Formats: sequence, C-alpha cells, structure tokens
Amino acid sequence: MAHIQKPAVTSTPVHDLIRDRWSPRAFASKPVSREAIASILEAGRWAASTNNSQPWRWVVASSDQPEAHAAALDCFAPGNQRWAKAAPVYVFALARKTFEANGNPNGHAWHDTGAAGAQMVLQAGALGLVVHTAGGIDRDKIRQTYSVPDGYDICCAFAIGYQGDADQLIEELAERERAPRVRKPLDELVVGAGFGSVADVLK
Ligand SMILES: Cc1cc2nc3c(=O)[nH]c(=O)nc-3n(C[C@H](O)[C@H](O)[C@H](O)COP(=O)(O)O)c2cc1C
Repeated sequence: MAHIQKPAVTSTPVHDLIRDRWSPRAFASKPVSREAIASILEAGRWAASTNNSQPWRWVVASSDQPEAHAAALDCFAPGNQRWAKAAPVYVFALARKTFEANGNPNGHAWHDTGAAGAQMVLQAGALGLVVHTAGGIDRDKIRQTYSVPDGYDICCAFAIGYQGDADQLIEELAERERAPRVRKPLDELVVGAGFGSVADVLK
C-alpha cells in the first residue's frame, strides 16, 4: 500500500520540504543509519540561537541498541507509545535554562531548542525520513534515566524513521493518520497595524 502523503494546501508556494512534512504515526521497520542520525543532529547544531548560546542538548536512542531503544520508548506517554514503538530512532530535546557565560536565565532557551528541532525535522525530510514530535513524555523518567541535571528543561521527543503503512496501526490511530491536515488562515495569524486589522502584506 502506498504511504499516505498529506502535502500542505498553501495559500502561496512554499519549499517542498515544508509542504510535504507532516507527523505520521506509521513507521517502517527499516533502520536509520548512523550517518543519517548524525546529519539530523548536525542540522540542529547549526540553528541560530540567542547570543549563540546553543542551549539545546539531545539524548539519542536507536534500534541498533535494543535495550537503549526500549528504555527510551518507556519515556513516552502510554498513548504515544502505541505508535512510537515502531520508530527506530528517538531524540529527546533538552534546553539549558541559563547562559553558560554568566548563569543568567535564558528566556529564549525553549525557542532556540525548538528552532533547532525544526531544522532537524526538515533535514530528516531531506533524507527521506519522517519525524513525529511528542510533548507527551514522562519527564521525570527521562530526567532519571539520562541523569538530566536540574539546569535543563526537557522539551519534547522526536520519533524518527522511514514512513510505514497506515494498515499497521490500530483503527483509532489509522483514522488520525488519514485525517486531513488543517491550519488557521494566514490572516488570523499575521497582525496588521494592531490586533484585529489585516496586515498590508496579505492585501
Ligand atoms: C511540541 C510538540 C508536541 C507534540 N506532542 C504530540 C504528542 O504528544 N502526541 C502526538 O501524537 N503528536 C504530538 N505532536 C504532533 C502534533 O499533533 C502535530 O504536529 C500537529 O497536529 C500538526 O500536524 P502535522 O505535524 O502533521 O502538520 C506534537 C507536536 C509538537 C510540535
């Protein structure tokens, strides 16, 4: 069966990688090479960050180490484990809460870690992989399992792999897999002269 594709229906053209990215739950059993994983992490490494503070840290588990893979899967919320179990690679994104230079709070740590995550997701797409981000994770378990210090927040998980067939999912998840992708219209997101007015750029 062909893999489900859900290209974004855009109001104006965007790059194919952005258009075609979505968050599947069905993963193929095909493993992901170390080179591909390294390339995804490298893409994150080169994200922009406040004062070049690079607050992101990543915990990575791959199916080539089954015990580590199982331990990481256990850190997903039970509902997410139902689909995440098939993904060969997991990455947990952590954000350092303070600047290394002076110890002051870094109010941009989550933003920058998220920006790095977006680059990783697009790099994965360029390599023919798919990514499903999950905020439904057991942060206490992650902190304990990977000895994450207090100075780091645990932001989210990425389940990464090659896309699989929706038939392998239980019906509830298969339905979500087939559901159309929706977004708010752009004019609801872009503020004009003030909230409630249409931005010139969209007229
Ligand atoms: C930070 C973050 C947390 C998310 N958490 C979950 C999650 O716990 N479980 C899940 O199934 N999907 C999760 N998602 C996926 C979103 O539901 C999905 O990106 C959104 O519905 C848009 O769909 P699309 O990515 O296919 O365009 C998360 C996405 C992000 C960015």
